[in-house]
Amino acid sequence: MSAEDTRYMALALSLGRRGMGNCWPNPAVGCVIVAGGRIVGRGWTQPGGRPHAETQALAQAGAAARGATAYVTLEPCSHHGATPPCCDALIAAGIARVVAPLQDSDPRVAGQGFETLRKHGIDVRTGVLAEQAARDHAGFFLRTEQGRPLVTLKLASSFDGRIATGTGESKWITGPQARREVHALRARHDAVMVGAGTARADDPSLTVRDIGVTRQPVRVVVSRHLDLPLLGQLARTAGDVPLWLCHGHGADIERVKAWEGLGATLIPCAVRGVQLNAGDVLQQLGQAGLTRVFCEGGSALAASLLAADLVDELVGFGAGLAIGAEGLPAIGALGLGRLAEAPRFDLLETREVGGDAMQRWTRSLGPSAAR
Ligand SMILES: NC(=O)c1ccc[n+]([C@@H]2O[C@H](COP(=O)([O-])OP(=O)(O)OC[C@H]3O[C@@H](n4cnc5c(N)ncnc54)[C@H](OP(=O)(O)O)[C@@H]3O)[C@@H](O)[C@H]2O)c1
Repeated sequence: MSAEDTRYMALALSLGRRGMGNCWPNPAVGCVIVAGGRIVGRGWTQPGGRPHAETQALAQAGAAARGATAYVTLEPCSHHGATPPCCDALIAAGIARVVAPLQDSDPRVAGQGFETLRKHGIDVRTGVLAEQAARDHAGFFLRTEQGRPLVTLKLASSFDGRIATGTGESKWITGPQARREVHALRARHDAVMVGAGTARADDPSLTVRDIGVTRQPVRVVVSRHLDLPLLGQLARTAGDVPLWLCHGHGADIERVKAWEGLGATLIPCAVRGVQLNAGDVLQQLGQAGLTRVFCEGGSALAASLLAADLVDELVGFGAGLAIGAEGLPAIGALGLGRLAEAPRFDLLETREVGGDAMQRWTRSLGPSAAR
């Protein structure tokens, strides 16, 4: 792998990230076309999933694409979907070389894209920045391979790991810069999700604000009986910003109708014990097309997801504040007896954000990394 390949792939990956949160259920792909040491085309998956990154970059490159190298962050598609296959477009444009880190896990592609390109005499190179690409596409892979979206769990806590006081006060544990960072993180996910306890206690709107975003992520609230305030922020905005309510099959029909009337989408899910089955909630969200979900708590929902091994990334904002044992722990009971049973994550990043400390952790990657 040459330094040049790595450099252009890093650029393609950064372009691809621009589509994150905007193009589900499609992957957020980036593409750079290079001819004679010059970048002649750049593209990324557009809102709603099309045009695809390759189409955008090829359109920009025009005739300069002939004999050029295309850096694409995922195997180009080879099947006829809503748009013609990107492989056909690359071949027709006369691309000589394709560099792509990973094979697509979509069974309609799964290696056939690379095969098609090779059959047409295109030199195909794989594996460049594969680990980074696997992280960026983890939500898309999880959905195609396991039927569920990637889950990022974010919590803002005191030094002693509390997310609210004993009386339920949680606004604001961290400062304005950390909250702004949270809005940017929301924007890079397809959906923001909270438990009903948070919806009842905080009356949140769960929208992205003040960072110039036009497309809002879906808002998801998990509540078995739909015991949610009908006069709160979520209800008021249900007609304007997508609001999906995951509820138990036995939820009161009057409540179902009331929320439907307000414009919410109702998603019946399986029940496990007294709560919704977290695994089924995520399967339903995956079926509805979501690839990346940003869960903002609270304590009970965080525990359910962790206990079911459904959390892929952790984002913690830690404040220099002590709340004490009567405060609400960041994560509810997990019922662990031994440390070895505790879900473990690897550190990705630590950073100071306006006087608070941000940490990002990730689960070690599954089979997609070795693709
Ligand atoms: N600092 C922070 O980052 C932060 C973030 C979020 C929340 N908070 C604070 O945390 C508190 C709320 O947390 P919480 O633990 O009480 O509530 P929560 O986790 O937000 O919601 C729990 C509720 O969600 C519903 N639910 C349905 N299925 C579930 C499942 N599988 N697992 C868990 N819950 C499920 C249940 O309500 P139903 O009976 O309706 O089904 C349950 O009581 C508030 O004080 C809030 O201010 C702080």
